[in-house]
Amino acid sequence: MRPNIDYYQGREQSFIKHLFLQKYLENAAYKLFQGRSPVFNFVDAFAGPWRNSDSESLSDTSFALALATLDNVRRILAKLGHPNLKIRFRFCERNPDSVAKLQAFAAGKTEFDIKVFSGAFEDNLEGIRAACSDIRDSFTFTFIDPTGWNVDSGPIFSLLKDLRGEVLFNFMSEHVNRHAGWDGVAKSVGRFLADPAWRPAFEGLPDMSNEEKVLRLFKAKMKEAGAATYLPDIAIRKPRENRIKMRLILGTHNQQGVSVFRDVQAIVEKEAVKTRQTIKTTESGQPSLFSDGQIVELEAQRDGVGCPANMGLAAETLLDLVQAQPGITFHDVAPRVMEQVAVRETHVKDIAVDQRKAGLLHFDLPRRKLKPQTDTRLYPASER
Ligand SMILES: C[S@@+](CC[C@H](N)C(=O)[O-])C[C@H]1O[C@@H](n2cnc3c(N)ncnc32)[C@H](O)[C@@H]1O
Repeated sequence: MRPNIDYYQGREQSFIKHLFLQKYLENAAYKLFQGRSPVFNFVDAFAGPWRNSDSESLSDTSFALALATLDNVRRILAKLGHPNLKIRFRFCERNPDSVAKLQAFAAGKTEFDIKVFSGAFEDNLEGIRAACSDIRDSFTFTFIDPTGWNVDSGPIFSLLKDLRGEVLFNFMSEHVNRHAGWDGVAKSVGRFLADPAWRPAFEGLPDMSNEEKVLRLFKAKMKEAGAATYLPDIAIRKPRENRIKMRLILGTHNQQGVSVFRDVQAIVEKEAVKTRQTIKTTESGQPSLFSDGQIVELEAQRDGVGCPANMGLAAETLLDLVQAQPGITFHDVAPRVMEQVAVRETHVKDIAVDQRKAGLLHFDLPRRKLKPQTDTRLYPASER
């Protein structure tokens, strides 16, 4: 199920992207199937295949990885006494050669419910909506993985709003950074941001890179359109250049989704450091002074999930949110902290405890409990 790094030589950032997709899907499917819904729809909206190496089984493509991962979860849960879980695959692709390969892939997997949509995703929204929402209470996870920002986001946001599932959107930071300031691309950026009049808002943002500005506006529009409540993201670097290539943004209405996102990020970012390190030592021919484990630890402490800098930022964010809404429950505030800062739920609990000790927050705990519970109400110290 796990992507095989050997198929990703020279495009290791895609390995990290696929690893994240695979791990998040696995977690999401377990949670969902054990919860409310027996039907999981996986939509691969910009499916490919695209620049993959495993031409035989296509195991280094998002759709083949998703299929293997979700089918594995279904099999495990069937053995554990959940026999009626169903997974359906809706793949969409614009390039005719890739569509032919997708169709051949689907034809070889007749035991699965797969529908292939040919043409632009934006032109197939109605068909995909119908093919996902025909079963009541089904859950839809959509993967949107374009090569740049040539995407008509407005109608896509409407579909996501109606489906009320989750989306993983690949935001192509490197592309956006290179071009978003240019007048020549103003119209296509407007399409991407679902806002033709994006320029004044963009210019009104404080000093940050073009990519961060577009990201900020994109997330704001997505929320405004009702496509998501929370939008955490993870930056994926080109390991050979250590430069941000893309960001995977999760769009979810579910508090737990944010928590799972940061859990998966903590695992995947360690793999990213290892991958970078392997490339470095292989290319230089010089063994490193430190072991892989030491380097992973050093980098995790510098800017990883729950590193000291992120803990500090998360503490400030928590205090601000509690100040703005005294009495907010831990259940409501934790995902908002985790959305903004790369920390896990356990970190938010520790931060709350520390801030209480420092006299900056107050909350009551049930007997014998040391940390906030989901229904614990948090107050700023000034309200004591
Ligand atoms: C980055 S690749 C996808 C890779 C694939 N998701 C993976 O991870 O293995 C983007 C794909 O989207 C296709 N594409 C481009 N514009 C599209 C559109 N508007 N609708 C659907 N597919 C599109 C391209 O032909 C290409 O195959």
